Amino acid sequence: MKYTVVLTAEYPSIAREILAGELDVIEHPTEHQRTEDDVITILAEADAAITLLSDPLTRRVLESNPNLRMVANYAVGYNNVDVDAARELGIRVTNTPGVLTEATADLTMALILAVMRRLVEGDREVRATGQCIWEPLHLLGTSLQGKRLGIVGMGRIGTAVAERARVFGMDVAGIRRDEALDELLATSDVVSIHAPLTRETRHLFNAATLAKMKRGAYLINTSRGPLVDEEALCDALDSGHLAGAALDVYEHEPRVNPRLIAMNNVVIVPHIGSATEETRSAMARIAATDVRDFLRGNAPRHIVA
Ligand code: DGY
Repeated sequence: MKYTVVLTAEYPSIAREILAGELDVIEHPTEHQRTEDDVITILAEADAAITLLSDPLTRRVLESNPNLRMVANYAVGYNNVDVDAARELGIRVTNTPGVLTEATADLTMALILAVMRRLVEGDREVRATGQCIWEPLHLLGTSLQGKRLGIVGMGRIGTAVAERARVFGMDVAGIRRDEALDELLATSDVVSIHAPLTRETRHLFNAATLAKMKRGAYLINTSRGPLVDEEALCDALDSGHLAGAALDVYEHEPRVNPRLIAMNNVVIVPHIGSATEETRSAMARIAATDVRDFLRGNAPRHIVA
């Protein structure tokens, strides 16, 4: 009997190549704002699925198809999956760790440089004026050299960011959970978030924690948007308490807070931490290989539940 694998989006072609022949593959166009009902509909035929980080895999969704045996989430983060429900229902869940570490760490450094050296402001100015102006006091940013980078979440990606930041002459401090968070916030010129989104970390950065950051510091987030209370962040930027922020992720994706969009000292990019050809293909290879192995009766390599 041939199993059916549902792809909830257009993934890099390597995913189909790995699954083709051996399995029936149903591919859906990429959609960023699927409701639970949408996902229930597209998973109806699935024995296994490769899913997007924006697909809500709630208990209701997981329960809706009694044949569903596996979900390979195309991301390292899996906050969109009700892992407890999956465990109870005997649905295997996998993710794609490891292969996006370097790309996400690179993007984090790009964001630190962009906000501290005012790259986007400079780019906009040149395009708007058609001129390159050199003046002693024009578009002055902040040097990375000698500044302290505080990393919240010293896992794979946090550690890779630390390595890169040291090359730029930054003094790096990192914490794993919320141990010594206050001290880290009070002493860091730049704080970069690399923690997973869980019940405990939701709004870890709220009005109270942002107030504990050094005046004039920068906040960088390439993990998950809801770790930051965006209204509180906008207030901290408006008041001048923070000098700037650079964000790859947002509290209510795909929507971006209009207050952030209006601020010149905020760099905003559309969740592209892992968006390189190499990385997205490697993620697809991992997800599809785990699905194929599992449906062949073998253990997948990247088990979450
Ligand atoms: C992940 O893998 O969790 C990223 O956010 C996707 O790039």
